[in-house]
Amino acid sequence: MCGIVGYLGFREPLPIILDGLRRLEYRGYDSAGVALNRNGCITVRKSAGKVAELAAQVESNPEYAGARAGMGHSRWATHGEPNDVNAHPHVDCTGRVAVIHNGIIENYAALKTQLQHRGHVFASATDTEVLAHLIEDFLRTTPDLYGAVKASLREVRGTYGLVVMDAHAPEVMIAARMGSPLIIGVGEGEHIIASDAAAIVAHTRQVVYLNDGEVSEVRPDGMRTSTIFDVPISKEITNVTIELSQIERGGYEHFMLKEIHEQPETIRNGMRGRLRVEDGEVKLGGLEHVRDKLVQAKRIVLIGCGTSWHAGLVGEYMLEQIAKVPVEVEYASEYRYRSPLVGKDDVVFLISQSGETADTLAALREAKRHGATVLGIVNVVGSTIPRETDGGMYVHAGPEIGVASTKAFTSQLTALGLITIMIARAKGLPREEANVLTRELASIPDKVARVLAQSDAIKQLAQEFKDSRNFLFLGRGANFPVALEGALKLKEISYIHAEGYPAAEMKHGPIALIDEHMPVVFVVPKDAIYEKVLSNIHEVRARKGQIIAIANEDDTEIDKLADHVIRVPRTYGFFGPIVNVIPLQLLAYYIAVARGTNVDQPRNLAKSVTVE
Ligand code: AGP
Ligand code: GLU
Repeated sequence: MCGIVGYLGFREPLPIILDGLRRLEYRGYDSAGVALNRNGCITVRKSAGKVAELAAQVESNPEYAGARAGMGHSRWATHGEPNDVNAHPHVDCTGRVAVIHNGIIENYAALKTQLQHRGHVFASATDTEVLAHLIEDFLRTTPDLYGAVKASLREVRGTYGLVVMDAHAPEVMIAARMGSPLIIGVGEGEHIIASDAAAIVAHTRQVVYLNDGEVSEVRPDGMRTSTIFDVPISKEITNVTIELSQIERGGYEHFMLKEIHEQPETIRNGMRGRLRVEDGEVKLGGLEHVRDKLVQAKRIVLIGCGTSWHAGLVGEYMLEQIAKVPVEVEYASEYRYRSPLVGKDDVVFLISQSGETADTLAALREAKRHGATVLGIVNVVGSTIPRETDGGMYVHAGPEIGVASTKAFTSQLTALGLITIMIARAKGLPREEANVLTRELASIPDKVARVLAQSDAIKQLAQEFKDSRNFLFLGRGANFPVALEGALKLKEISYIHAEGYPAAEMKHGPIALIDEHMPVVFVVPKDAIYEKVLSNIHEVRARKGQIIAIANEDDTEIDKLADHVIRVPRTYGFFGPIVNVIPLQLLAYYIAVARGTNVDQPRNLAKSVTVE
């Protein structure tokens, strides 16, 4: 998920690698490292923290000069804490093979066990290290690195952007891609491999984009490519024309927009290796040891702040309706001061993107003090919350840079969906019924992509409403928290006053606000309470409010009532919020852009709120 830079050519590799890593810093990372091939030996240096710290250790250090080839990595941990040992590059037992990797090796645990049985000794807790040992193993029977990498990748499930070096072959580097970008910059007598053009364009604008399933053997003066199954591929060299600042955001105008568009992929990443669709099963390694506690829990408490609290509210519907366990959702900031009645039969989940939010951390400590089992649903690996909990799961959304949370929210919902299915199944939900849920969850990324395809229509709508002074967001059931999240997104980045309400609560007060100047967004999928929400829409219409409906693709009624309709695919089993929130993220984004606000860093807000 983070940065890769590899250099092979006539120049000193280290300065090019460090410069590339610096240019990739905007992506967010937790540790960095380099490997250099000098005189047939690979020297590795890596450390937790910033590229500047790594640079201070290696720059102007004669031990790292005079290399023939080299590569560097900035890591955003998914498996194993962000520390020196888990930082990349990883090497095999002999120090011959070095690997840097972005992504997740799904079947790493099984591969690690097999390799350990064959005598391999592991140094780190990462999934990546299995690749180094696997390649080492294949090098015993395969003549060259190119063949050994391909043979290894045929054994691997998951995602990777990968660069491999062999101490015995300083003139080659292997690059491979599956679901995680990798680009090869082509210069005169040199090649630069990177996960992102930002690390390449200072040197060359001629690039080759690898596709999924492709592996390249790169030399200073040439390269060849094939699939992992040895089918040769001829690659075209293309010209990068966009500017560096655009490249950093993947061509998007803002990080927030980039992150909104990443969601099909990030949701998929959160399910990777965890969802066994056909068996109707979910496997969550970090919760395995507390499975009985979860199944027997008298109550589950979900705690968070802001968007993470909204995720908890959706989780309440999933867990109560499907896993049949009573749930309470609490604001972390309130929980810490109200002497909660919580004890050893309770399971408390702390939900947090950053894993550092002070209020959430204080709530964790409070629940722990009372003897509850405390678990985390966190994005940033190795952050404080997961270090203090009894277990939990990472949502694997990748670094979220925009202050307004988007992809972390849908990943939190995905995590809660997985936990729900796991508990329900352990409590006896029949396989056929669970299978309906696992299939539905697996289909969510494609449904999200379908909504994203309507961005242009939402952008136009935003133009129409950019000067509104207030907004109401209404929804019912599991879509009530979606309404809250829609309102929060809009106020955070556009500074328009917005409120979210359960649709039927409107008549108990907010209805007084409605006139022809009030836009009202209804989240109104065709579920069991669809008819009821239609009645609420009638109430707004009677008072001339402007109605924007988020409705299902097959809803023919809604056009008669709403002024504007955004279509979303139908979903089942309380996973709808993951899809229905997408148009609200886009609406908030485009309204903010139309108003000219600082979308990625809205005023007064911080990405990680580490104060009370
Ligand atoms: C979301 O857009 C916000 N910026 C904010 O509400 C955030 O969700 C909240 O501060 C919690 O942060 P956390 O998930 O990192 O704990
Ligand atoms: N899964 C790998 C790890 O945790 C790669 C992380 C990354 O993409 O930076 O080390």
